[in-house]
Amino acid sequence: MKINEAKFIKSASEAQNCPPPTLPEYAFIGRSNVGKSSLINMLVSHKNLAKTSQTPGKTQLINHFLVNQAWFLVDLPGYGFAKAPKAEREKWEFMIQEYLTTRSNLICVFVLIDVRHEPQKVDLAFLQSLGENEIPFELIFTKADKVKPAEAQRNMEKFKETMLEIWEELPKFFLTSSEKELGRKEVLDNITELNQGFESPNVW
Ligand code: GTP
Ligand code: MG
Repeated sequence: MKINEAKFIKSASEAQNCPPPTLPEYAFIGRSNVGKSSLINMLVSHKNLAKTSQTPGKTQLINHFLVNQAWFLVDLPGYGFAKAPKAEREKWEFMIQEYLTTRSNLICVFVLIDVRHEPQKVDLAFLQSLGENEIPFELIFTKADKVKPAEAQRNMEKFKETMLEIWEELPKFFLTSSEKELGRKEVLDNITELNQGFESPNVW
């Protein structure tokens, strides 16, 4: 898919203030600092569209970006950020949960996992909660440039094995590096395919 245009639409602090749910939408979620905002920028080839930072906890609201006038990318705050004050964490968790469970045009949640690590409890628990709420998701491993290819493959395999202890089927998996633009075509082709399954809401 060619990206002709990507623009920021709005930041919302709750699901009901998001843009009208008239276009297919994809949300990016994962632990703080996993590279959600960087991946969005890499996909749309726009260095500073979504705000990134070396310090976890940068993204704090539900941020909508409109791509090619046809679909939304959504940048969300991270989960599992132990250093944030408890009240802040609970506020983000509630906001994310409400968004994920009520957003009618949400086609797929991309859960980002740092490929440098072995499977983490917080990620597995988050996937479980998506499953319980019947929210479709796929996995995107990030920061592939930070490890050797064999280590990336090993960690992805371990993640699959751990998932299969609970899940009957595995979701789609992608390996990416925002630094090296790895995985861009695969993720965009996947979105093109998913867009075709979107039925626009009944406007009557
Ligand atoms: P929060 O909004 O705080 O939850 O973080 P985030 O998940 O949006 O992460 P962000 O995109 O802000 O990136 C966090 C840090 O990781 C930044 O310093 C990025 O430059 C770095 N980073 C992100 N993706 C990659 C990658 O693919 N490779 C490398 N080497 N660094 C990356
Ligand atoms: Mg961010």
